[in-house]
Amino acid sequence: MALFKSKIGLIAATVGSAVGLGTVWRFPAETQANGGAAFLIVYIICLFALGVPVMLAEFALGRQGRSDTVGVFRRLSPGTAWPAIGIATIVVAYMIMSFYMVVGGWTLEYMFSSITGDLFTAPTKATASQLDMFYTAKMHQYVMTDTMPLIFTMVFVGTNIAVLLGGVQKGIERMSNVLMPLLFILLVGFCIVSLTLPGAGDGVKFFLSPDFSKISAGVVINALGQALFSLSLGMGILVTYASYFPDNTKLGRTSVIVVSLTLLVAVLMGLIIFPAVSSFGLTDHGLKGTTLVFVTLPEVFEMLPASQLWATLFFILLTVAALTSTVSLAEVVVRFMQERAHLGRTAAVFAVLSPVFALSALCSLSFGSLESFKICGMILFDFLDTVSNNYMLPLVALATCLYAGWFAPKGMLNNQFTNFGTIRAPWSAACVAVVRFVAPAAIVAILIGYIF
Ligand code: PHE
Repeated sequence: MALFKSKIGLIAATVGSAVGLGTVWRFPAETQANGGAAFLIVYIICLFALGVPVMLAEFALGRQGRSDTVGVFRRLSPGTAWPAIGIATIVVAYMIMSFYMVVGGWTLEYMFSSITGDLFTAPTKATASQLDMFYTAKMHQYVMTDTMPLIFTMVFVGTNIAVLLGGVQKGIERMSNVLMPLLFILLVGFCIVSLTLPGAGDGVKFFLSPDFSKISAGVVINALGQALFSLSLGMGILVTYASYFPDNTKLGRTSVIVVSLTLLVAVLMGLIIFPAVSSFGLTDHGLKGTTLVFVTLPEVFEMLPASQLWATLFFILLTVAALTSTVSLAEVVVRFMQERAHLGRTAAVFAVLSPVFALSALCSLSFGSLESFKICGMILFDFLDTVSNNYMLPLVALATCLYAGWFAPKGMLNNQFTNFGTIRAPWSAACVAVVRFVAPAAIVAILIGYIF
């Protein structure tokens, strides 16, 4: 079985998975909705106090079991019901892929329309509110009609297939080695531009000076949920990737590097978005979800010289972030098909992604022709998004922690943390305690928070 070839490649791939639209786009939106810097601080605490240990538990399971997410549990606890966790990861993977591929398609569509200039066809003397209307109408055209979003979604799924066909080393690792440095260069470039805009300081202040009175139970629960999602926990991704880690990879160090880089990306995004938005007086705009990247930011680009260039680079950044994440998610199921159905790589990739064409087509159309088809009052896209993020991810993460902490073969975590006694890991006991007690309690709090 192929393992990741280099330490850098393994980290690039894992960071690539973590740094997705959740990190680059949902993070600023959550930060704004939850009181700015105070949210950032709680998020940082959640990342390190909970994210690192839970990530380590997933790494340990994957490398000890060296199989797909079902196979890992079968190998470690044969004849038990624990492999059901693996089945849940396959279900989650399909739910998330279905809508996330659509968003990936939008990022591609915006990238192309930035290149062709179609995005910047607003009348030159438009007032601020006219611009607002123009970009809102554009978003409707790009996102909520039938044909174009559908085509770009299909192109995005096709791109995933192309990468996955290359396998772990020549597909995932090679892509990550090229795209992740590009992503960081783009982020730093945008950060410099944004911070040098007139009036950028107010945005920085909002993002970096905390108002602790804003911290409430709700803020903490949101920060926890954001930490889980942005680290790709509870999806089986890290179990799968860790099954490709060499035996001598230091899991503790790897997890701290991955979490730190993910945080760095989130902070850079904050330093891009908040100054830019405050500099152009757009702070009252929703930074929520789609409006932020598809309406507010194009307005910012419109007001900059070389709009097309900046917009193109920005949507390349988003597309890269999305692609390295969807590939990791699809890999969970590809590995599953390879191990369980004994398919070769190519057959497995097509078996896994062919249904995604259909599923994501339905999600894409749920903004257009299928808009009136509702489940629990939500269009298909929103339904899958809500159920997977609010319920499935926390449940899978909870079950994974309970298994790794209490039911896995004795000493599994410690053996993996110390590479079977060959390296020191003085933090091991503390980490096991978090996986056993703190993380499950925190995740139950998230679930309760979402249910009520
Ligand atoms: N961490 C990823 C993100 O921030 C989560 C994710 C992974 C989502 C894979 C979809 C697919 O977007």
